[in-house]
Order: sequence, then structure tokens, then C-alpha cells
Amino acid sequence: MFTSVILAAGMGTRMKSAMPKVIHKVCGKELVRWVIDASRDAGAEEVVAVIGHKAELVRPVIGESAKTAVQAEQLGTGHAVMQAEEHIKAAKGCVVVLNGDTPLITAETIKKAVEYHTSLGNSATVITAELEDASGYGRIVRGADGAVLRIVEQKDASEEEKKIKEINSGMYVFDSEALAAALGKLTPNNAQGEYYLTDTLEILRSEGRRIGGYTIEDNDEIRGINNRVQLSEAEAIMQRRINERHMLGGVTIIDPSSVFISADAEIGEDTVIASNVTIAGKTRIGCGCTVEMGCRIEDSVIGDGVSVLSSVILKSEIGAGTSVGPFAYVRPGCAVGRNVKVGDFVEIKNVSIDDGTKISHLTYLGDTDIGKNVNFGCGTVTCNYDGKDKFRSEIGDNVFVGCNTNLVSPVKVGDGAYIAAGSTITEDIPEKNLAVARARQVNKKDWKGNKYYSE
Ligand code: UD1
Ligand code: CA
Repeated sequence: MFTSVILAAGMGTRMKSAMPKVIHKVCGKELVRWVIDASRDAGAEEVVAVIGHKAELVRPVIGESAKTAVQAEQLGTGHAVMQAEEHIKAAKGCVVVLNGDTPLITAETIKKAVEYHTSLGNSATVITAELEDASGYGRIVRGADGAVLRIVEQKDASEEEKKIKEINSGMYVFDSEALAAALGKLTPNNAQGEYYLTDTLEILRSEGRRIGGYTIEDNDEIRGINNRVQLSEAEAIMQRRINERHMLGGVTIIDPSSVFISADAEIGEDTVIASNVTIAGKTRIGCGCTVEMGCRIEDSVIGDGVSVLSSVILKSEIGAGTSVGPFAYVRPGCAVGRNVKVGDFVEIKNVSIDDGTKISHLTYLGDTDIGKNVNFGCGTVTCNYDGKDKFRSEIGDNVFVGCNTNLVSPVKVGDGAYIAAGSTITEDIPEKNLAVARARQVNKKDWKGNKYYSE
């Protein structure tokens, strides 16, 4: 059991962005949310994010997922942690300090660091890493016996200290009471005139308390995001993790390098995902589906055995056994039943479609409730918008809609009705009726003739 304090008040100047750094996204989830979720998964009882720069933009992202404390002025990492003082004092167990811009930290590592800290009875444990290029980081200064003595910032380091390859990840585990006491003793007497959180280690050690270092196994986990290049690197690492999780869970991903799956997506066993596919938001895909080349599926629920090819599906539900595409556009608000066909160049929006209905090609259906086993001919259009208002139509079961039909909403087509090709339907059709709504053909014998034909 522990409390985690996440430092997220900084500006992130190098992102060159109107948005604060910690709300930029990796795999569809904000940087700070990754850290909050890792804390929760590791067993944090309380999570507190210290926010400051553009707090009004960060707060809604955090929502209910964590408490927030505000650091009005960024006077250093120690000062940031001080803003969470009441939560530190109330903490049961230890306090884990993390950074809002290191999304790759895993729950497993946090857990291990807490265990390490507790088993040694430390007052403070810094999470460290060995880096070939340690520049920019605080260095871990150890004594001859290997004990951690202190952390020295690059800007305050001597030439000898700059050669140290073990760095401070900026993540720590503290005994809550020791942390609260040490924070009260920080001073800004250093090259940057800031309250350094790192100084708490030396303060605690000088009081005869135990401090230590926990060296991380995978250096990727401490990667901080400072610019968009690092953001894309983190995206690639995180995407690899997500794709591997799905593959180990029974999903075939033919070319993982071109498949982008959001953190929150769920995918069933024996689903096959081909290249250039994006599965975004809170999408749930069933078992035994095929998601072929070039699809984007966002915030949707896809049943078992569905096949989708080169199509876009947004905020909709697709029932089992249905096929979508190629080149279909399923816009928000569609509830498509089982064994439906949404074929090529079909656009649907805000429609409900019951089982077994076929919309094979070149059709637009919007704001319509459609029954079972309806057959739409090529080129059906619902005229659901009169330039001012939208209207809803209703089509019963077993209706046959001839090619090139316009349905001028609102209209109601009864069960079993049949619409002749080329009709423009403006009035309701009773059940089982044949509707013909087009001008009768006239053949004229005496006319000026056809320039392509001469006797
Ligand atoms: C800090 C550590 C350094 C470590 C490095 C790892 C200190 C003094 N130094 O350095 O040893 O190697 O992290 O990345 O702690 N923040 C606030 N409020 C502030 C200042 C910072 O919320 O007043 C937040 C930042 O938004 C960021 C984190 O704290 O998420 C780290 O701050 P940063 O300025 O990047 O620290 P460094 O100088 O890199
Ligand atoms: Ca930094």
C-alpha cells in the first residue's frame, strides 16, 4: 500500500506546443494518465498529481483518476512535492514519486522498487539506471562500499562526478514521515536556485537514516519525453508492448509495425489483423474477426466473426458475422445487426439495421431504422436533410429497395414492400405494396435522330 505523487507541473517548453507536455498522448492515452494507471496497477491507494502550468487543461484529463495539488510557481522538484504535503502526511505506507512525462514506467517496476525499499527498511530509495550517455541527468554518488551518498545535478557536478554513468531516473520511494521531515529542510542553494527533491537523500543520510538505490532492468522505462522525437520513440515502444500483449493473448497481427492499437482496446482470440490498421479509443473486437488492410476502427464494439476491409468505423456497433467494406464509412451512432452486409462505398450514419440486411454497394443511409433481411439496390439514398432539419425514416422487414431509389425522409416503408428502381419515395408505403414513383417511359418514333447513327 502506498501513495504516489506524480510531478506534472512543468511547462515542457521543448514540445513547442500550446498544450502542457503531460497531456500529449502516447498510444491514445495522455502521458500523465499512463503514469497514474501504472501507479494504480502497482497497488497505489492514493495518487496525487502535482499540476501547475496550464492546470485548467490538465485537470479534465486527470478527472477522477487521481487527486490534484497545484504548484503555482515552478520552484523545483522538491517544491513540487511539497505541494502534496497533506497527502504525504496522510499516507499509509510509503510515498512513490514519479514524473508525469515518463509514460513507459511499468506497474511491475514500481512494485519491485517498493518491495526493495521496504525489505531493506530504507527511508529513501532512488530508482536509478546505468546509461552510456548520462548527460543532463542527476548522477548517483556512491561511497567506496557502494552505498548511495547523494545525487548531484549535472549543473552542480564536478568533472569527476560528470563521469558517473549511474543516473537518477527522477523516481523514488520514500518513507512518508521521513519525506515530510526532509522536505521541510530543503533550501534552494544550488546552481539553479531551486528546491531540489534530490537533496532529501543527503539530508536523510546525514541524519543516520538508510537510503539506497534500486537499479532498473529496462532503461526504456525511465525515458522522459521532452520533445516530439522522444514522443514518437515512446509511441513505438508502447505500441510494441500493446501489440505483443494482444499477440500473446491469441490475436494474429501480420505486420505489427503498421498496426496501431490504443491502450484501452480489447481484441478476442483468433482475430487476424492485417497491415495499416488503427484500432482507436475504447474499441472491443470479438473473436475470429478479420480486420484487413487499411481500416480505422474507433470507439466501437465489433462482434465475433466480423470481417472489415479498408473501411472506417466510428462509435458504432457491428453484430456477429457481418461484413463491412471495402471502402465503407460507418459514421457514429450505427447499430448494425448480425450477418449484415455493408458493402463497398456504403456510408451509414445514425442508423439501426436488423439482422440479415444487405446494403451491397454505393448507398447512403442516414437517420433510419431498418428491419431484417432488407435488400438495398445499388445507389439508394436517404434524403434525410432538407437544408435545415434532419428527419428519420423507417423501413420494415423483408423490404426490397430497387436500385437508385431516393427515400425522402420522413417516410415509412411497411414490411415486405417493394420499391421499383429509380423511385423517389415521398410518401409512406403500406406493407407488401409495390411502389413505383417515377415518370413512365415514353418512346418517340419521330425525332431528329442520333448523330452516332445514320442509315
Ligand atoms: C530531475 C532530477 C534529476 C533527474 C531527472 C530525471 C532534480 C533536482 N533533478 O532533473 O536528478 O536525473 O529529473 O529526469 O529533481 N516539475 C514540477 N515542478 C517544478 C519542477 C519540475 O512539477 O517546479 C516536474 C516537471 O514537470 C517534470 C519533473 O518534475 O515532470 C522533473 O523536472 P525537470 O525539470 O525535468 O527535472 P530535471 O532538471 O530534468
Ligand atoms: Ca527532465
